[in-house]
This record gives sequence, C-alpha cells and structure tokens, in this order.
Amino acid sequence: MSPTPLLEARGVTMRFGGLTAVDRVDLTVAEGEIVGLIGPNGAGKTTFFNCLTGLYVPTDGAVLFAGTALPPRPAKVTRAGVARTFQNIRLFANMSALENVIVGRHTRTRAGLLAALGRGPRYRREERESRERARELLDFVGLADRERQLARNLSYGGQRRLEIARALASEPRLLLLDEPTAGMNPQETRETEELVHAVRARGVAVLVIEHDMRFIMNLCDRVAVLVQGAKLVEGAPGDVQTDERVVEAYLGAPDDEETPV
Ligand SMILES: Nc1ncnc2c1ncn2[C@@H]1O[C@H](COP(=O)(O)OP(=O)(O)O)[C@@H](O)[C@H]1O
Ligand SMILES: [Mg+2]
Repeated sequence: MSPTPLLEARGVTMRFGGLTAVDRVDLTVAEGEIVGLIGPNGAGKTTFFNCLTGLYVPTDGAVLFAGTALPPRPAKVTRAGVARTFQNIRLFANMSALENVIVGRHTRTRAGLLAALGRGPRYRREERESRERARELLDFVGLADRERQLARNLSYGGQRRLEIARALASEPRLLLLDEPTAGMNPQETRETEELVHAVRARGVAVLVIEHDMRFIMNLCDRVAVLVQGAKLVEGAPGDVQTDERVVEAYLGAPDDEETPV
C-alpha cells in the first residue's frame, strides 16, 4: 500500500456561473516530491491553487492534507503546513526584506495580541527567534545582504526570492509556487531552479505552476497538464512533453505569447 500523500485533491471543481474553471481534478503530491502543473493560459491552474489554499471554496470535491480535510480558510491552510506564492508578486513594498519574512512567520508564533501589547518576555523571545529565523531564510534564498532594503527596491528576481523566503517562514511541508519564473531572465530562471531543488532538500514538497517547459522538465518528478479546467495528462516529464494531446493543446499558444495575468 502506498503511504498517504501529503496533498490529495479529489475531484476538485470550481464553477463561476456557467464557467467551469476547474473540472473534477484529482492530484496528489507525496512527501518530498516536486510536481509540475502546466497548461495554456486560462486553463484553471491559478484557480486550482486558490481551491487548495482556501481562497476559494470548491464547488465540489475535497482537498486533503496528510489525510485530513483542509478547512477552506487561508490562515488555517497555512497553519496546517501549506504555503504559497502568487502569480503577481504580493509583498509589503514599503517594508524591509527582513520584515516581510518576519510577517510570514507570524502564523507560527504563539504569543498573541495581548503579549504583543504588553511586550512581555514571551513576546520578546518570540520576536528574537523570528528575526533569527527570518535571517536564516534570507540567507537561504540568497538575500542575506539585503535584509534592510525595502522590498520595492529589490530587483525583480530578488522580489520573487523574497516571496519564497516569506512563504517558507510559515514552516510549510508543502510549498505552492504560481509561475515563479514569470518575467525572469535565463540566469534568474536557472537560479530559481536551484532554489526549488534546495527547498525540496529541506524536506518541503513543491507543487509548481510554470510556463517555462525547460524549467518544468529539469525540476519535476511528475507533471500534470490542465486544459480547460480538466486534467488532460499526468506522468513523467519526458512522457508528458512528447504526448500528442499535450502538443496539440499547446499549438497556437506558444510560450512567448503568454502574458501573465
Ligand atoms: N474569480 C473569478 N471569477 C470568474 N471567473 C474566474 C475567476 N477566477 C478565474 N476565473 C476564470 O477561470 C478561468 C481560469 O483562470 P486561471 O485559473 O487564472 O487560469 P490559469 O492560471 O491557468 O491561466 C479563466 O477563464 C478565468 O477567467
Ligand atoms: Mg494563472
């Protein structure tokens, strides 16, 4: 018997009025696995992520994490051990890199509002630990020398790395990345590839949406293809890449015409 997957989506469906954006999608991610999710623009990839992370309550289906139903509430999903980044960068632009990561950690600290107001010893200890941990994460993503820079003054690639550090600050077991290399140059894309490998080496499983085929093929243990909301194909990267149905789905939508939404 195979062990319980870390993430299991069962028949996840999301309808907006008459539009079925996600159509009965089954997907699993095992502990320590890197799974790719690809598909043409508008295929429902981001909507599927939103269903996994509690931003949307799926019209139908179930999302299980380590065998337990995930409550469709973003804060609860984070606390359960799932973190994400967004297709469009969402950072606190006028906060420093370090502060952005500290905010990402707050789901893990327990002192609470009263302690924070009283600035009691427990609050101070947790703040110190948060700061140390945030520094370690900035170092991990290659931003050790940028901790005091405002997020908005970081390079584009730097902002993307900072988002990953912030997501990791909640100490997830699964990280969801929505187009982490969108808009990156080839050098930044390669660095992101290495970073995702390093994330996995820390014991964090990864589910990644990406258009860059080379990135997906270099990185993923398994790839699923969404087309018009439904899972068309799933398999090893090499098999998926040459699958006729996948090639057909991508015809007329080459990578360089994709514009991030
Ligand atoms: N909140 C929403 N309300 C209505 N339609 C939506 C909403 N979010 C996404 N959609 C639609 O769902 C479909 C899938 O979108 P999306 O998940 O963003 O695709 P992808 O990430 O694969 O490019 C699109 O047709 C989009 O317009
Ligand atoms: Mg998207």
